[in-house]
Amino acid sequence: MLTVAVLISGTGSNLRALLEAAASPEFPARVIVVGADREADGLAHAEEFGIPSFVVPWRGAAEREEWGEELDRQLQVWAPDLVVLSGLMRLLPAAVVARWSPRLINTHPAYLPEFPGAHGVRDALAAGATRTGASVIVVDDGVDSGPILAQERVPILPGDDEHSLHDRIKPVERRLLIDVVRRIATGELDLAASAI
Ligand code: GAR
Repeated sequence: MLTVAVLISGTGSNLRALLEAAASPEFPARVIVVGADREADGLAHAEEFGIPSFVVPWRGAAEREEWGEELDRQLQVWAPDLVVLSGLMRLLPAAVVARWSPRLINTHPAYLPEFPGAHGVRDALAAGATRTGASVIVVDDGVDSGPILAQERVPILPGDDEHSLHDRIKPVERRLLIDVVRRIATGELDLAASAI
């Protein structure tokens, strides 16, 4: 059984989808802990599913290294097989990436390498794109630049705003994330040789 830690910053809707999938006895992975960089709304999903959680409060970019060390210490206590960034809106320090990658994956609301960064949905709209997408990647030292594990296109419709488009992307992200975690757990997807 693959053990998974999930890190969030926000509402945790993708986390919830993974918790629901992992609650099935047939699913080959379990979420063992949820971490956040603030008192994120999504921590309520962990509580509802009886999953322990921790918060390492973000104190600003000047303290990124210390924050990362504390986050890393928490993760080491739980020693998950896989760490999933599911809407964690902070860049991890290189030392944390080095410890966990390639067992460190991230979901992103765009068709990478298009529109990396914190505003993938907004940037796709601002560029006047007619389609964007969702991606699941291995985290490396760059910003959303690691090997792509899964991705799928999502159309941008006339009248879309950031909210409506993100709402259309998230169900795709959830499906990709759950499938990637499942394939890692079964050995179908080898992170050490990761790329599609
Ligand atoms: C998701 O769309 C995730 O891909 C995105 O934040 C959202 C979190 O939603 N992450 C990034 O943009 C990271 N660059 P959720 O809290 O409802 O799961």
